[in-house]
Formats: sequence, structure tokens, C-alpha cells
Amino acid sequence: MARPVLRGRNAELAAVATLLRRTADVRQGCVIRLRGEPGIGKSAMLHAVARHAAAAGFAVGFGKAEELDQISACAPLLVALRSGSKPLLDADTFAGLAPLHHQPVWLVDRIASLLDEISARSPVLIVVDDAQWADPVTRFALETLPTRLAEAPVVWLTASRDVGTESTGALDDIDRHEVVLGPLTGAELDALARDYLGGPAEGLTHRRLHALGGNPFLAVQLLSGVAAAPSAGSETEDIPPAFADAIDHRLRSLRPGTAELVELAAVWGRPLDLSDAAELLGGLSVVAITAQRREAHGRGLLAEDRDHVAFAHDLIREAVYETVPAAVRRALHMRCARYLVASGKGVVAAAPHARAAARPGDYEVVEILRGAACGIGRQADRRGAGQGRGIGNARRAPGRGKTGAAQGGGVEFCGYER
Ligand SMILES: Nc1ncnc2c1ncn2[C@@H]1O[C@H](COP(=O)(O)OP(=O)(O)OP(=O)(O)O)[C@@H](O)[C@H]1O
Ligand SMILES: [Mg+2]
Repeated sequence: MARPVLRGRNAELAAVATLLRRTADVRQGCVIRLRGEPGIGKSAMLHAVARHAAAAGFAVGFGKAEELDQISACAPLLVALRSGSKPLLDADTFAGLAPLHHQPVWLVDRIASLLDEISARSPVLIVVDDAQWADPVTRFALETLPTRLAEAPVVWLTASRDVGTESTGALDDIDRHEVVLGPLTGAELDALARDYLGGPAEGLTHRRLHALGGNPFLAVQLLSGVAAAPSAGSETEDIPPAFADAIDHRLRSLRPGTAELVELAAVWGRPLDLSDAAELLGGLSVVAITAQRREAHGRGLLAEDRDHVAFAHDLIREAVYETVPAAVRRALHMRCARYLVASGKGVVAAAPHARAAARPGDYEVVEILRGAACGIGRQADRRGAGQGRGIGNARRAPGRGKTGAAQGGGVEFCGYER
């Protein structure tokens, strides 16, 4: 597919275009900080702005900080100076910066002089993507260079995931702006669906699309998965492989302990109290769980819920659940069942987990299910209703998808007679 059309970003693009034009006209520097949650479209917007700026006569440098490579001091900025088909610096000038590599102050000073010279010929746009991972020298450069070059037509455009961090409002004369990217609206998601599917999203795809919090990354993964699947547009409950892969990729980028927390939460099936999570993970401290929750939130997997481990969107939970190997899933369900019984939270709550962990002949599971069936039976007697079905006969409760085992609801008694 050709370069995707950016849906729902016209106002933001127009605002940035105005700032570029003003910088070129009044020949004064400007800082634009683009912020938003993972996958909200920051990089896509940076590329659109860079293309627009190049067409408007700006000299453009585009760099990107890497999460796992904060060792090469100032790498994002240096890359920006040598990026693209028309780099800001020629090879010799760039090589001339190498001896300053271990002298950050001199390096930044030299970059300032070079940018000053370039901006005398044409306005300049310096873009640094993923600035949340910038190394200390890049941070230092991004803090000091705009002020140093305040009287030159240089636009500093950065993107970062720091949605919670407000601008510090630096005490200088430079023109500073913040652009926060929010979720796409329903109509914008419908337009995106038409881009990928050639027509409107229908049925389950439509419902899933509109339950992703307006996040373009998740929407694009879902839609491209549906478009690629042979059964595209059908009501199959299977999670589109592209979506599952994208979630798996995010999961694998977590620290092992954090991934375990996220997998546990997927198996738990509903918002998990931090203290329950701490107990279930072998007595970790709530502080440690909070740090893990924050890490997974930063990856767009968990919601911004300070009291619980909860998923950003239910489809993400389903995708994580599907990713967990069956044996691990069973073990986690069993852990949840035991914990719910041992902590006095009730066999009825434990029963769906026990059922998901069940293997024929597992008497611990039988006991939990028997206890739950008795509890439910007593409730049902009171209400004049009863229920019971066998292991292997488990059916999805309507509307709960494949992974609804832990969502509560009716207990399907395993039929063991003891
Ligand atoms: N407004 C939009 N309209 C259509 N597609 C979009 C839009 N915004 C982003 N996308 C698509 O969504 C995906 C994710 O976007 P992008 O990589 O820009 O997000 P991001 O905010 O940079 O994420 P991260 O924080 O992980 O770097 C990309 O495939 C991009 O093309
Ligand atoms: Mg990005």
C-alpha cells in the first residue's frame, strides 16, 4: 500500500506548518514538542512535517533516539546532521566532529556554529524522534542549542511519549510550543477503515476498531490484519495475526518480570489489584509492581490505572492471553485459583480459573469446582435455577470472546463424581 494518509491530523499539521512559515519569515528559532502515547502517530506526523518542510525550502535533518543505544553520545543529533538525500553536513565536515566525541560541550558548541552557518542560507528543521530515550548529551544539546540559535531560523521538532510530563517552560526567549496528539475520533477511524479495507468496517471488526481507544497503531494493526486474512471482514473471533504479532512484539520488549505481570493480568481477566498482583507474583512489593505497571503502560499495553493492573484495551488482553504458551497459561490459571481460595476471596471466583487449568483426574480442581458448584447451587436454589456441564464441554459465554474463562459467570461443573 502507498504511504498511508494521515487521518485526523489536519489541525496539528496546519499548526506546525504555520510555525515553520513564521520561523522562515521572521528568521527566529522555535521549539515544537510533540507528545502522545505509544502508537498515537508521532513518528508518522514527524515524517509528514519533514516532507512538508523540505518542500517549503527547509534544510531538514531527521534523527531518532534508540532505547537500547544511549551509549553513543549525541547520536540522534549527529544522525540528523547526516540524514537524508541532502544531508545538512558534507562528509568532511561531519568527520571533523569525530575528535570532539568525548568533549560534549565542545561538540555541541561546534554543532551550534555549523547550524548557524547553514541557517544563513536556508531555514533549518531538526527533528529528533523518540526523544524520551535521548542520551544525556542529546538532551543537553536539545536544551541549549535552541537558545543559542534563537536568532536563527531553526525549528527544533521533537517527539516523545512523555504524555504525563508538562513542559518546564524554560526561562528563555525562544518560542516554545507543545502539540499533544489525542485519539482519533470515530469518524476518523471509519475513514481509516475505508483506507485499509476499501469499504467500511463491519460487525466484529467495526466493534473492535472502535474499542481501541482511537489509537492509530492498534487500529492499523487490526485493519491490516483483517485486510490480509482470507476471511477478512467475516465474524471470526480469531485475533488478526498482524495485531497479535504487534502485541507480542511489545510484550517481548518488556523486562521479564514485567512481562510476567502482564501475562498474569491477562490470565486474571479483570483489573488486578496491585496487592493481589504482588501476592500472586511470589510476594513482590507493591512498589515493584507499580514500577512494572508503569513500564507496561509506557509500551501501550496497560492502562493508566494507578490502583490496578488493567489493560489499555480488551483486545490487547485477548492478544496477550493468546500469546501465553498453553502450559504457562494453565499454570497461571491454577495459581489464580489457589490464590482466590487461599485468600478467602471464594471458590466461586476461583472456579473459572480452575476450569481453565483443569486436566482429567486433577482432584484439586475437582474440589474447587465442587465447592463452587455447591455455592452456586445454593444461590440457584434460592433463585430456582441450577447449572452444570462437563470439562471439555466448556463453551464461550456470549460476547466474552475466547479468553473469557476468568471473567466469572456460570461455573461449568466437571462432572466428576466423588
Ligand atoms: N493519523 C493517522 N492516520 C493514519 N495512520 C496513522 C495515523 N497516525 C499513525 N498512523 C499509523 O499508525 C502506526 C503507528 O504510528 P506511529 O509509529 O507514528 O506512532 P508513534 O506515536 O510514533 O508510536 P511510538 O510511540 O511507538 O513511537 C503507523 O503505521 C502509522 O502509519
Ligand atoms: Mg514513533
